[in-house]
Amino acid sequence: MPTPEFLAIGSIIIDDIVYPDGRTSMGVLGGGGTHAAYGIAFAGEKPGLVGLVGAGLPRDIRARLEADFDTAGLVRTHHPQMRGWQIFEWNGVRNEIFRVEVIEPFMYGPAPDEIPASFTNPRGFTLLRGPQHVAAWRARFPDAALLWEPVRIFMLSADHEAFFEGITHADIVSPNLHEAQAMYGIEDEREIIRRMLADGVEVAVLRMGELGSLVARSGDGRAYYIPAVEVAEVVDQTGAGNTYCGGFLVGYCREGDVAEAGCYGAAAASFTLEHVGCARMPANLERDWDRRLEEARAGLRSVLL
Ligand SMILES: Nc1ncnc2c1ncn2[C@@H]1O[C@H](COP(=O)(O)OP(=O)(O)O)[C@@H](O)[C@H]1O
Ligand SMILES: [Mg+2]
Repeated sequence: MPTPEFLAIGSIIIDDIVYPDGRTSMGVLGGGGTHAAYGIAFAGEKPGLVGLVGAGLPRDIRARLEADFDTAGLVRTHHPQMRGWQIFEWNGVRNEIFRVEVIEPFMYGPAPDEIPASFTNPRGFTLLRGPQHVAAWRARFPDAALLWEPVRIFMLSADHEAFFEGITHADIVSPNLHEAQAMYGIEDEREIIRRMLADGVEVAVLRMGELGSLVARSGDGRAYYIPAVEVAEVVDQTGAGNTYCGGFLVGYCREGDVAEAGCYGAAAASFTLEHVGCARMPANLERDWDRRLEEARAGLRSVLL
């Protein structure tokens, strides 16, 4: 198999979902890495998924991963596959209770030197990790576009120094609005973008849920509001941000333009919103994709920074 042009590096998790009325969906495919890989796939590229898979990964899930992705970057561990209860409340709040004792290796594995040597020179990769991991992945793929999605817990911690260290190794940095507000102690999204650029971020991508996203490249003097692509019903927002990042990366590498990349992100995320867990690859992907991308472009708004 040829080496994948795009990689998603992050976690793979099996969710057992409990709805507020007591219904359940068991064995649903989730995880930040998986969602980001689908974002790449919705944008029309076959991604390599890089993550740890444990013992007892359900057969149907493995088959699905193998059908949709290049799985040479999945590293096996003897620990039971990371799996958790996801308990939803009526207001959308989601509480997670892990069902396995060992979590950490799944969150932070594999290390850059554990993935196949055949993975050379991707055009780009999404990285869902803490700041201390960014430099090593940058060193593993020096020429690839690196989109860093800082894991939530670091954004909410007081360790800002670590964040600033992380951004120096990334090309694109994408927190969500709540995380960035907590981290900078600033409410206003444009002010946050200015701060990110001033701190040395080359491409800043702020994900703002139903408000869409705000993206900017250093030196342009402007930023772009990208609307959320509307869907018939938002079934579950989980993973929308990861999927957005996968789409953004492909758009950025293909078009070299941050506004267009943001539209790719919004189009990709919209598929995830319609599903519990990872969205299936749509049968008529190309047509569906073009329509969603057009919708995002139509709502694009440029502002001075
Ligand atoms: N509730 C929602 N309604 C409509 N679009 C949404 C919603 N949540 C997310 N999105 C879309 O998905 C994108 C990424 O999701 P976001 O919520 O910003 O990241 P995260 O999942 O990390 O919180 C948004 O920019 C938007 O396009
Ligand atoms: Mg959200």
